[in-house]
Formats: sequence, C-alpha cells, structure tokens
Amino acid sequence: MSTVTTQTPLEQLKVAQQRIWSSGDYNRIAAITVPVAETLVDIAGPRPGDAVLDVATGTGHVALAAARRGAEAIGLDYVPELVAIARDRATAEVLDVTFLEGDAEALPFPDASFDQVLSAIGVMFVADHQRAASELVRVTRPGGRIALASWTPTGFVGQMLTTVGAHVPPPAVAQPPTRWGNEQVVRELLGDGATDVKSTTSSVTQRFASAEAFADLFLTYYGPTHTAASRLSDTGRAALREDLVALADTSNRSGDGTVVCDWEYLVLTATRREDG
Ligand SMILES: C[S@@+](CC[C@H](N)C(=O)[O-])C[C@H]1O[C@@H](n2cnc3c(N)ncnc32)[C@H](O)[C@@H]1O
Repeated sequence: MSTVTTQTPLEQLKVAQQRIWSSGDYNRIAAITVPVAETLVDIAGPRPGDAVLDVATGTGHVALAAARRGAEAIGLDYVPELVAIARDRATAEVLDVTFLEGDAEALPFPDASFDQVLSAIGVMFVADHQRAASELVRVTRPGGRIALASWTPTGFVGQMLTTVGAHVPPPAVAQPPTRWGNEQVVRELLGDGATDVKSTTSSVTQRFASAEAFADLFLTYYGPTHTAASRLSDTGRAALREDLVALADTSNRSGDGTVVCDWEYLVLTATRREDG
C-alpha cells in the first residue's frame, strides 16, 4: 500500500523557495553581503573557541568570518551547491569550518548547542518564520547570543522585493522576508526565550556600472528576481526590468553615470534567557 504524505502550504512554500535559491547563480552576487556579514560578526563578537552557528549560510560569509576569529563555526544551508562553495572557501583559507546541508526550520542540533547563533540576510528568507525563530532560540545556550542582519522593508532590497511582487505576486501564505528588518516583529518571533533585544540600522554600499547593469545582474543571477522573470512573458520581463532600472536610478547617489547606492539593513541582537 502506498503512503501519501500531504504537505502543508508552508512546506510547499519551502520547497518552492529552495528551488528559487538554487536558481540563477547566487555565488555570482554573494559578495554584496560580505560587509554585512563582517558587521554582524563584529557586533556579535565571538571569542576563540566559541561554538557559533551560521543559519542559512549561503556561500559561508558569516561562518568564515567567525572562524577567522578562532570560533568553532558551523554553517548550514538547504542549497547543496552553495554549501559546496562554502566548503571550498574554507579549504582555500585553511579554516576549520563545518558546512552542512540542512533546514533552518528544523536545525539538526540538540538544545543549547551554541554560544552564538548568527544569520546574515539568511533566516529572513525561510518559509515558516515562527518555526525558524523558535529554532534559533532552542539551539542557543542560556546566556548565549543571537545576532541577525536583515534587509529592512523600506530599504533598497525591501523596495526591490516589493517591485518583484508587483509583477509576480508571492503565494498568499508567504510572509514578507523584510518583516525580520523590524525589531518589534523579531522580538515577538523570538518570544520569551530571548531577552535584552536591541537593534541598530546600517547600510552597505553597492556599486554597479549602470542601472541597467544592476537590473541585468539581478535578473540573471539572484534567485528571487531570476525566478520571477522566468515566469513572465517577454513583455512582462521587460516591464520588470524597467522598474528595477528605475529603482536603481532613484536610489543612485553617484552623479557620474555609474550607480552607487546604500542598502539598509537591521542588525538585531538578543540574549537567550537563562531561565527560559
Ligand atoms: C540571500 S541568501 C544569504 C546567504 C548568506 N547568509 C550570505 O550572507 O551570503 C539567503 C540564503 O538563505 C538560505 N535559506 C533560506 N531558507 C532556508 C532554510 N529553510 N534552510 C536553510 N537555508 C535557507 C538560502 O538557501 C540562501 O542561501
């Protein structure tokens, strides 16, 4: 007798999102968040020997930055191709980092395993926000630290995701990733197990040869824009490209024909409650 397993809408969304992050070629643009990861790790301040988890590590920026400080770092992501690149980067730098394929919504670690649990522009992209937030708290040891960097709703990437959603509406069950860029929302997601929640906004400067070069780079390599474009007709794709060009033009502060723009993100830190 065959067994039929029924996926919930959020499980279906996760499968679709995993495909999205596997599409395009995220590694071609992953460098855009290197300064974000460095800032996050500076703020979290892991010490040599600390056990650090980088959730949704992608090509490994945060785990590698933590390992350079002597932390015992693990990076986890559900896209095998990105995990393989992260491993190659660790090998190239002769850094002892463990990279695992896994799901941020079901972390394969016992409770209280880590001194620090970090994520840069990562956990914000899960399907089930509450499950992932509860997992962050669960695997952090009492007194340990959670630190997250997330694009804000009104910053450049927040506007870009809204623009994409206007052309290809997200499934009804999907919550906007940029809600992780709002301190109050994350405070509620982390719940009573977290205390001492603080946040600060910062921005990372991006440079492109032109607004068109930005749009084409993202339409080709960035999973969310690449997948949206693949679902549109030629006319629809051209309209999306036009809106992305307009967004880059509006945000541009270069004045010399190239594009220089500042992408805002929130860094939130919290402490795992000792008695929670
Ligand atoms: C914008 S990328 C950022 C990657 C990396 N943190 C960085 O700063 O370059 C978002 C990452 O989240 C990962 N991701 C999203 N949902 C996930 C989940 N449920 N489990 C594991 N990884 C997930 C994607 O595979 C992707 O690598």
